[in-house]
Amino acid sequence: MNAAAPAAVIVLAAGEGTRMKSSTPKVLHRIGGTTLLGHAVRAARATRAEHVSVVVRHERDRVVEFCAAFDPDLVIADQDDVKGTGRAVECGLEVLPADLTGTVLVTYGDVPLLTGETLVALTEAHTTSGSAVSVITAHLADPSGYGRVVRDADGHVARIVEQKDASDDERAITEINSGIYAFDADLLREALARVGTDNAQGEKYLTDVVQIARESGRAVSAHVVDDPWQTEGVNDRVQLAQLGRVLNQRVCERHMRAGVTIVDPATTWIDVDVSIGRDATILPGTQLLGATSIGAEAVIGPEVTLTDTEVGDGAEVTRAVANLAVVGPGATVGPYSYLRPGTRLGARGKIGGFVETKNAEIGEGAKVPHLTYAGDVTIGEGANIGAGTVFANYDGVAKHHSSVGAHSFVGSHTVVVSPVDIADGAYVGAGSALTQDVEPGQIAVARARQRNIDGWVARARAGTRTADAAARARADRQSPDTEPTPEDTDR
Ligand code: UD1
Ligand code: CA
Repeated sequence: MNAAAPAAVIVLAAGEGTRMKSSTPKVLHRIGGTTLLGHAVRAARATRAEHVSVVVRHERDRVVEFCAAFDPDLVIADQDDVKGTGRAVECGLEVLPADLTGTVLVTYGDVPLLTGETLVALTEAHTTSGSAVSVITAHLADPSGYGRVVRDADGHVARIVEQKDASDDERAITEINSGIYAFDADLLREALARVGTDNAQGEKYLTDVVQIARESGRAVSAHVVDDPWQTEGVNDRVQLAQLGRVLNQRVCERHMRAGVTIVDPATTWIDVDVSIGRDATILPGTQLLGATSIGAEAVIGPEVTLTDTEVGDGAEVTRAVANLAVVGPGATVGPYSYLRPGTRLGARGKIGGFVETKNAEIGEGAKVPHLTYAGDVTIGEGANIGAGTVFANYDGVAKHHSSVGAHSFVGSHTVVVSPVDIADGAYVGAGSALTQDVEPGQIAVARARQRNIDGWVARARAGTRTADAAARARADRQSPDTEPTPEDTDR
């Protein structure tokens, strides 16, 4: 356990977020593959704090449901009717052990770019300086809307004043309160008990703790961050998109620094949990989402969307969509194919163009190269599925499974009416409609035998260009018998 780990982190997430104009609570909007609150919880967890509590109120049940799924160890605190960040923190403390001592961090559920490293650095500086309160601040060209940091003649933080309560002089201050703090737990509890609601918004302000600490002779320090994005909150969907882009840029840069080529980070979207091996290349217009992982030296893109998909070393995926699929090492996919859940393509296998797969186990080196639907099927190693083959897995009531054995060949434009098992080393004639199993070494031909009817065009289509063409062709075929041309004799 890190000696400087805080005792607790309290994440404030009770606010309404009206400017999102959404039926989804603000903290549950997503960037980079998880919710804003998810990002805040990740940063909080990175501090290795013993307790992390989340303060909820607006759309409480939905936020609690997310918390339980995301991190079951989160402690939920319900904020009551008293408004304000001070009251929120009080509620957050109430669900933690009453004798909690040490450092308590406070963060917001709608500040997604704040990193765990920043919180660790804040905690360390807070403990080393022996301050009762340490607040992260930033200098902004346009500080409007934020609480301003008022410093005394010695340059120490004296208090924080909200925009709505500030004088003209105070509004001219460009150092803002980020809303992210480290507190001494005892001081925080004592000070919050003394905070009132006598202000422009009638709220219990957490910021009042600063002045109370100073009045009790305790030290307050400010930690100025150079990276303003880390303290930027999301209030509307414009900011949601801006922060989403900045987060994505950071994720892309992390991968590039680790040895991944990303040709166009501006059109490449990578969720925070994606892993990518060394010397992989990501081509423009690609989205790597959820728990996707990409092997070393793989080439992904252009225009590929992979969700929760695993791609092996050296595989190539071009203009394809995959969801919960596995692409083996050295395998190739695309262009224009759709891999649905349960697709597992073996090493050096191939899913070519205009192929849709679902719950399809495709063996090593097996090929499904063109225009195929392969649903609920097991295809053995080295098998080849001809162009236009359809595994008809659904009879309108239930889904059925079929299999194709190792090194078997299914002729083009075959429909396999599942369930059918084609053994190892078997052939299926092109254009078959297969309803029965095929044994090893057999060829199955399941289509009507071809019948050619002489003279049909002359009888049934007399006088058409087709009939004329037929007549000419027949005459040409007969001519060599009567009058050989010079070339014919040469041969
Ligand atoms: C707060 C700070 C301000 C700072 C700004 C930074 C106070 C009084 N003011 O202002 O100095 O510059 O953040 O963004 O602290 N929340 C609750 N319960 C509440 C109220 C808020 O949980 O009763 C949560 C919100 O969900 C949000 C965070 O606290 O995540 C901040 O709330 P918000 O209303 O945005 O704070 P500001 O008034 O902007
Ligand atoms: Ca507010």
